[in-house]
Amino acid sequence: MSEDVHPLRLGVLISGRGSNFKSIAQSIREERLKGVEIAVVISNVAEAGGLAIARELGLPTAILVSRGRSRTQHDADMIACLREHHVDLVCLAGYMRLLSAEFIAAFSNRILNIHPSLLPAFPGLDAQQQAFDYGVKVAGCTVHFVDEHLDHGAIVLQRAIPVLEEDDAHSLAERILVEEHIAYSEAIARVASAMYEIRGRRYVRRNPD
Ligand code: GAR
Repeated sequence: MSEDVHPLRLGVLISGRGSNFKSIAQSIREERLKGVEIAVVISNVAEAGGLAIARELGLPTAILVSRGRSRTQHDADMIACLREHHVDLVCLAGYMRLLSAEFIAAFSNRILNIHPSLLPAFPGLDAQQQAFDYGVKVAGCTVHFVDEHLDHGAIVLQRAIPVLEEDDAHSLAERILVEEHIAYSEAIARVASAMYEIRGRRYVRRNPD
């Protein structure tokens, strides 16, 4: 990437502790993730732990509480906030609310999500517990583009780990989280490189000319 290209501006959406957001911010600080910057961190939950992390890092934050508001109303505010901050790529990082069709259309093919399972297995809540209870021998995480269906869009990358005999759902979730932190920065780097195309459901990497 040449010097005069603007960094890709990320809008990170959180609802909770924000460890994935923190790992993205650290990757940027340590220059392991280049050509991107965090424009704003938005939480739909006022008490989200990730907000404190964002403030400590000196990043712009916004709290747009979703409780009691319709999806359309709330998402209209989210879209406005993301536009105010000139966001290019939206990164859902433990954002536990479905997006409206309007939101997805406003950032078409520019919304990423991380999910703690090897999709299409175990979409929805408590994916790690679902995987453990099902008895899978391989678990992991997925970073994907967001479309109108839950945990469904084109997959950018996945990281897999074995489920160990001594695992319980908690230890499995902890080990998946380690992989999530690696996967999300890697996926953002791939998207920021623009060296890809989406063919139907398939994210396909392009080789440099
Ligand atoms: C992560 O495990 C993420 O994959 C999951 O929520 C957790 C958020 O943790 N997201 C989903 O289940 C979305 N379907 P964090 O706030 O520490 O990043």
